[in-house]
Amino acid sequence: MSTSLGVAVIGAGMAGRAHAAAYRVASTLYSPTLPEIRLVSIADINPEFGALAAKRFGYERTDSSWQAIAAADDIDVVSVVIANSLHREAVEGLLAAGKHVLCEKPLSDSIEDASAMAAAAERADSIARVGFTYRRSPGIAYIRQLIQDGTLGRLLHFSGRYWTDYACDPQGPMSWRFKGAAGSGALADVGSHMAYIAEFLGGEIQEVSGGTLTTVIHERPLPLGAVLGHDHAAVSDTFEAVENDDYAAFSLKFADGAGAIEVSRVARGHANSLTFEVFCENGAARYDQRRPSEIELFLNDVPSAQNGYRQVILGPEHPYVAGGLAMDAPSVGFGQNDAFAYQARSFLEEVAGVPESKSLPRCAGFEDGIHNMELLNAVAASAAAHGSAVRVNPTTTHKIGA
Ligand SMILES: NC(=O)c1ccc[n+]([C@@H]2O[C@H](COP(=O)([O-])OP(=O)(O)OC[C@H]3O[C@@H](n4cnc5c(N)ncnc54)[C@H](O)[C@@H]3O)[C@@H](O)[C@H]2O)c1
Repeated sequence: MSTSLGVAVIGAGMAGRAHAAAYRVASTLYSPTLPEIRLVSIADINPEFGALAAKRFGYERTDSSWQAIAAADDIDVVSVVIANSLHREAVEGLLAAGKHVLCEKPLSDSIEDASAMAAAAERADSIARVGFTYRRSPGIAYIRQLIQDGTLGRLLHFSGRYWTDYACDPQGPMSWRFKGAAGSGALADVGSHMAYIAEFLGGEIQEVSGGTLTTVIHERPLPLGAVLGHDHAAVSDTFEAVENDDYAAFSLKFADGAGAIEVSRVARGHANSLTFEVFCENGAARYDQRRPSEIELFLNDVPSAQNGYRQVILGPEHPYVAGGLAMDAPSVGFGQNDAFAYQARSFLEEVAGVPESKSLPRCAGFEDGIHNMELLNAVAASAAAHGSAVRVNPTTTHKIGA
């Protein structure tokens, strides 16, 4: 095992800062099995964003390009956290330079680019992973455990929605999120997470139907300066067309179960409402990202006259929590930023050579990222064919979340 690992983050935006903070905290979680983690650089094309994030999260320096990170001898591990259409160039360059890469979801904005990235990962000696962060939410991991250990048993029906409202305001500035092919809007941005969770819990989705993609705000003003994440900013009076979906929905079939997913970026009042319900042979469970340290559970284990959903507060008896928080006592609460920390920890453990049996579950591979994109492409194809059923390519080389 190497004695130290140098870390960099490319992109100092909304999610880049979450990666930067996560690497900082990763070695403080669980037993001290990691080598020394050196927080080396944050690279952003906008020097102000990069410098601010580097200072805030305690990184040694700032760079302005992925090329500088690729060329740096003191960097081993890199998170790529920039617009989806920029992932390919950076990831290919970093892998060619021997860096271990954790790329944000969705893997790319086109299957062609994602396939090229997977081929580059195959050729590389270094590790390439994709960040489907929500699988690290203790509540989601616990519901999966209850399905797999038979407590809930086989999933019959999945109902998921990821409602956000970052695009409600028509004066909200144009950004990379509003450009791209059919399905690259809300479906790729937040639907990628929900589709991954559906398969994490229910196994591979085999068919989608009823695909709907709708744009409801058709143009947006150009910002006068740089915009970060979903921030509002001063805008000009020049408008550009919104190219992709504000709202998307589809039905899905597992090998032996069914369900539906609905996603939105114009759900006023729902800044980040990732919610789902699973109905299984022995009961049901509900998760709501707005209350991440609890789940609701319904089990057929009491007389029906007394039965109903019960609130289960998550704590050290549930996945990730024991040792995974500085204070890991019952009912202390935790949230989405902790999931980024668990993801960073898992990635660093794999890079450091900590055996899988002594590590957090490994991060998803690029083949999972391609499958996730193929699934979303099938939804776009269904929408283009007025909701017709479209088969999803089975994955051959892996099991989601294995
Ligand atoms: N896992 C999650 O929960 C989650 C949440 C949000 C975003 N994401 C993903 O993270 C990625 C970034 O999203 P975001 O919301 O942070 O975007 P953002 O717009 O907030 O930030 C992107 C940053 O990249 C910088 N940038 C642009 N071009 C660059 C280049 N060539 N080199 C270096 N920096 C460059 C920008 O200046 C900006 O600071 C996307 O792939 C998105 O899907 C994941």
